[in-house]
Amino acid sequence: MIICSCNVLSDKQLREAAKEMRADPNGKVPTPGAVFRHLGCRPRCGSCFPSVIDIIHEKSSEEQPQQEESPAPLKQAANR
Ligand code: FES
Repeated sequence: MIICSCNVLSDKQLREAAKEMRADPNGKVPTPGAVFRHLGCRPRCGSCFPSVIDIIHEKSSEEQPQQEESPAPLKQAANR
C-alpha cells in the first residue's frame, strides 16, 4: 500500500529501509527523515509522517524481545 504519495513509497519499502538501517551497526536511527534519505528521497508535505512513524515503530517492536520491567530496588532509610 502506498504510504507516501509525494514520493510513491509503499509500507513495504519503508519497513525494509528501517530494517536495513537498524541492521547496520554504523547506521542511523530510523527516523522518518533518515528513512526517506535512505531511500534516496526527501519528505515533501509531511502528511505521511504519522503513518511512517507507526510503521517504523511497529517493526522495531516486533524485532526486539520483550523485556519485563523489574521493580527498582527499594532504598531503605538508615534508621539510627
Ligand atoms: S505524502 Fe509523504 S511527504 Fe507528502
